[in-house]
Amino acid sequence: MPDTASLALEAQPQTLRIVPTGGPFGARVEGLDRTRPCDAATRAALNRAFLDHQLLVLPGAPMTPAQMRDTSAIFGEVVPQLLRYKRVGELPEVSRMESTLKADGTTDKTAIRAETWHTDDSYMAAPAKGTVLHALQIPSRGGTTWFCDMYGVYAALPAATRRRIDGRKAVHAYDTVRAINRPSARTPQEIAETPDVVHPLVRTHPETGRKALYLNFNRLDRILDMERAESDALLDELADVARQPRFHYGHRWTLGDAVVWDNRCLMHRVDVDYPVGEERIMLRTLLRGDRPA
Ligand code: OGA
Ligand code: MN
Repeated sequence: MPDTASLALEAQPQTLRIVPTGGPFGARVEGLDRTRPCDAATRAALNRAFLDHQLLVLPGAPMTPAQMRDTSAIFGEVVPQLLRYKRVGELPEVSRMESTLKADGTTDKTAIRAETWHTDDSYMAAPAKGTVLHALQIPSRGGTTWFCDMYGVYAALPAATRRRIDGRKAVHAYDTVRAINRPSARTPQEIAETPDVVHPLVRTHPETGRKALYLNFNRLDRILDMERAESDALLDELADVARQPRFHYGHRWTLGDAVVWDNRCLMHRVDVDYPVGEERIMLRTLLRGDRPA
């Protein structure tokens, strides 16, 4: 049974202000105290805003891994991520992502791959519905994370293209010849956990009912029942639409920001344009999702 102190905290709804970014999607949440337990009304307001805006910026001071897990859990069930080497020891459902640019021009594999438009976890049968990224260390300039509105991209496709892709399925894999960079090596256990999967090319968001194009330049290998040359050409054509800036919003990080976004209707990428040697360290969580349909 909860004690009186936590009941008192539970009873205090927080007064939030949801301020749209001015871009095609996304909002900034003002007034949330991420260090307090979240009451049911505040939780409902935040989840409503998440569906309405696809991405929320939650500003605040740097958090501990436990605070990061608790803040993430407002939006869903936090699930452990594939790559064991990134997991925070005492809290395996929180990962520490280091994207610092090294003197030899490289970063961690995951950070190099994140320069390309992608959606997290699409190589999984039930990919994460959302990702939370929390800035613990940021470089003095650069490192913007960009997001792409895949509802908007789908809606903008010519009717003839929509007819070509509606009902089609595609193979997503941990790695594909279509990706520019190679991913982090997996342990035998991690390989066994990540067989190729098939997802619809157009998915219907399970909570909003809206259709979104489900692309991932790093993981989408080919369209099922199509010759590779034709599949490549069609995927390239779709990618060109997604590259149009009118679908994009860029988040410029402030230390301590947490950003939660919806992987079911957004892709994202990062600009690795920051000074060499300046630390860029994020905590990251993934929220359990459904099988795309
Ligand atoms: C990720 C990711 C981008 C960034 O962690 O999934 O794509 O800006 N990160 O670090
Ligand atoms: Mn990512």
